[in-house]
Amino acid sequence: MSLVAVISLAALVCAATAPPPPPNYLENRFDGAGDGPGEVRSAAIKRLLEVFGMEDPPLARSHMQPPQYMLDLYNTVADVDGVTKDPYLLEGNTVRSFFDKLHSEQVEYRFNLSTVARSEKVLTAELHLFKLRPQAAVSFNRHHFCQVSVYQLLDSSRINITQGKKLLSSRLIPIHSTGWEVFTITQAARAWMSDEDSNLGLQVVVRTLGGSQMDMKLVRFASGRNHHQSKQPMLVVFTDDGRRSASLENKDPNGTPVLPVLPQLPVAGAAPRSARSLDYGEEDATSLPCQRLPLYVDFEEIGWSGWIVSPRGYNAYHCKGSCPFPLGQNMRPTNHATVQSIINALKLTKGIETPCCVPDKLFSINLLYFDDDENVVLKQYDDMVAGSCGCH
Ligand SMILES: *[C@@H]1O[C@H](CO)[C@@H](O)[C@H](O)[C@H]1NC(C)=O
Ligand SMILES: *[C@@H]1O[C@H](CO)[C@@H](O)[C@H](O)[C@H]1NC(C)=O
Repeated sequence: MSLVAVISLAALVCAATAPPPPPNYLENRFDGAGDGPGEVRSAAIKRLLEVFGMEDPPLARSHMQPPQYMLDLYNTVADVDGVTKDPYLLEGNTVRSFFDKLHSEQVEYRFNLSTVARSEKVLTAELHLFKLRPQAAVSFNRHHFCQVSVYQLLDSSRINITQGKKLLSSRLIPIHSTGWEVFTITQAARAWMSDEDSNLGLQVVVRTLGGSQMDMKLVRFASGRNHHQSKQPMLVVFTDDGRRSASLENKDPNGTPVLPVLPQLPVAGAAPRSARSLDYGEEDATSLPCQRLPLYVDFEEIGWSGWIVSPRGYNAYHCKGSCPFPLGQNMRPTNHATVQSIINALKLTKGIETPCCVPDKLFSINLLYFDDDENVVLKQYDDMVAGSCGCH
């Protein structure tokens, strides 16, 4: 029921002049023997994917363990239901993590950014390296700090340069420390996005404070080759895909509506079933004042639990009930709705219904999921949860 309800929410909540289709009409279509229930279902799922910014569901690979960093980030920005705790916490609306593809013995890394959409603007990119404890045999050393520099490797045959690398980030790190070190490499990620072939990877150079090459037994970083998956080198890219709250900004730069234009599902051609067979009768629907009621969207029910890490589902809520004259302030009416309810009550004009009970405040949710390339992605979607309902 939940999926159906989400899909048809816009259509059902207020079909201003035409009577709304019976609430369980679509459900009947889905599991009944009507004309092509499977087609409606797949069209609905496809449209729901579009709301989540995807064309096809990613290939499910739930056996992978998501990076702890991404889980922590998700728990920082979202509550247990996936609802955004603070909309200003995250810059942009997408965070993507990538594992190193090179698995080199050298301190060189390469990340494949092909899953980042062209439309995504790279805000920040960070190289996350896990620094290992120095090997015991060499742990006595007069140095306390080392200089760690991250370089972007360049193709000197393509660009007229003598040096084949460009310094991106450099920092002093205590030699005896252990744990994650983060380097900002935004410029390189932007360059790779605009020209995929220029991506030759990153190189890390560790020097003494005097500037000479450091013994690599002394300062070591975990590699994807020899160390546990939880310590793998990782690239974290913060982007914005330009999809904004529909209430703030309806159009993307190309002028096409972005989010979330819910589908116009076919309206029942056949006569509605008798009122008795409905989930709730007409009297019931009209006697309730406009209010917010639960509507759980279960990703497992939809068949998405294989690729969505978190949440398992979320409460989208829905708005239901009548908006009769007189509309109190608790109905949060617009002036327009107040006037419409008055016209309806006075029966001044034929065919004017009472105002509609609709969401008047919407919250965003967060999804943590695996993309096609087994990268873990955190994405924020605007306008997914009805925060309150009002008569409009
Ligand atoms: C990056 O990944 C894509 C899709 O997985 C693949 O088609 C492409 O060849 C990869 N690029 C490199 C340089 O490995
Ligand atoms: C490349 O550099 C060399 C030497 O610095 C210079 O003579 C040459 O004109 C440069 N070529 C281009 C295309 O900039």
